[in-house]
Amino acid sequence: MLDYVTDRVQDESRQGEVFAPGPETARSGKRFYIESYGCQMNFADSEIVASILGAEGYGATRNLDEADLVLINTCSIREKAEQTIRKRLGEFRRVKERNKGMLIGVLGCMAERLKSKFLEEEQLVDIVVGPDAYRSLPALVKEADSGQKAVNVLLSREETYGDIAPVRLDSNGITAFISIMRGCNNMCTFCVVPFTRGRERSRDSASILREARSLYQQGYREVTLLGQNVDSYYYVNEETDEIVTFAVLLEQVALIAPGLRVRFSTSHPKDITDEVLHVMARHENICKYIHLPVQSGSTRILQLMNRTYTREWYRSKVDRIREIIPGCGLSSDIIAGFCTETEEDHQETLEMMRYCGYDMSYMFFYSERPGTLAQRRYRDDVPEETKKRRLLEIVALQNELSLESNRKDIGKIFRVLIEGDSRRSDRDWMGRNSQNKVVVFPKEQLSLRPGDYVNVFIRDCTQATLLGEARA
Ligand code: 5AD
Ligand code: SF4
Repeated sequence: MLDYVTDRVQDESRQGEVFAPGPETARSGKRFYIESYGCQMNFADSEIVASILGAEGYGATRNLDEADLVLINTCSIREKAEQTIRKRLGEFRRVKERNKGMLIGVLGCMAERLKSKFLEEEQLVDIVVGPDAYRSLPALVKEADSGQKAVNVLLSREETYGDIAPVRLDSNGITAFISIMRGCNNMCTFCVVPFTRGRERSRDSASILREARSLYQQGYREVTLLGQNVDSYYYVNEETDEIVTFAVLLEQVALIAPGLRVRFSTSHPKDITDEVLHVMARHENICKYIHLPVQSGSTRILQLMNRTYTREWYRSKVDRIREIIPGCGLSSDIIAGFCTETEEDHQETLEMMRYCGYDMSYMFFYSERPGTLAQRRYRDDVPEETKKRRLLEIVALQNELSLESNRKDIGKIFRVLIEGDSRRSDRDWMGRNSQNKVVVFPKEQLSLRPGDYVNVFIRDCTQATLLGEARA
């Protein structure tokens, strides 16, 4: 039971997705296979890697057996993520036994964390590449081809891959991610990201706007601006001296076309400004949804986590969101059982969840990560059973809150962007409303297509989905 719960809540549905562009692009040349784990940023990075390899004549394949180069884009955020990846590498070993010439490369956060140690621990790995070194991948492949082990895990203060047009992998053709910044300077004590993805840096705003415009021209209707901490986006155009903050960027992307929806993730409660909230309120096409990780509802724990806000401060931020953007969707990340967490602290987290009425949360139990401040400074002293029990309580409460939030939407009409067939039936469409809720409704005789906007009347719901019917 618990495994099921933790699997579902820790890993978004795309974990381990095999990537290939729409029709497979394998030509007569060499082929690569790529599998991605972890956050949306990793999925976006895999699209950059595909572009870099494409320029070298590599085509993508979804079939492991016919790949010359097998890549796995990894996540280090929790121990379980790393275990999943090691297991998968074990499976690759068997394929390599059949296909001796095949090269295996590890990309992403686990590559950065373990560096060349990876080559010693996992004998079958030929290439290890950190998140800032993807441009060197072709050279590393050549090195590995000649029988040497190839590693580049240098982190950079500048690399944003701003000039690389990502190859959209397994895309629905309607929604796409645009990476706007990399790295994180926040140093939350539990988090390995500042060590694996390096210092924060913002991508050239002109290249972001170019990418968004081009996506719109290709028929995409929604872009999600991605960064570990999008609110600290800051770019100075050296030619015009224009200062581009996140609020400015968001507005510029929104102005590309009224038919292009804009989302963003992730916001740090300490950094999201009123200016951003006002820009959201001003533009119909900026989705009314904020992912605002709280992590804990206890001020004492928040301090130990170095989140730099108190519970009261977080609550007043949520009040401000509700005031400026009525009806805004809200979601969170929550960690159960951080070092020294007491039953009272845990109760404060549950209370915070009720106060905020989150529509959705990603919920985890604390997993100590080597090298983080928490690992060096504190004892991981909450017993495993307690962590898991608290997590189950958090999950149960979130389920109630999600259902309650969905029930409130019954009887309302939402503008929905159609993304494709519903997972259950090709007689139903699936789309999302501005608040990021999944809406499913029958296709009926209406001649609608993915990428169309349609008003949907909500007549029922489950905990995860709004069920409705299209209104002309
Ligand atoms: N243990 C558990 N959860 C973690 N997260 C980050 N580091 C850890 C950890 N060591 C969670 C946080 C973060 C999300 C991406 O992952 O909630 O917001
Ligand atoms: Fe990790 Fe905190 Fe940065 Fe998020 S904001 S990536 S949790 S250090």
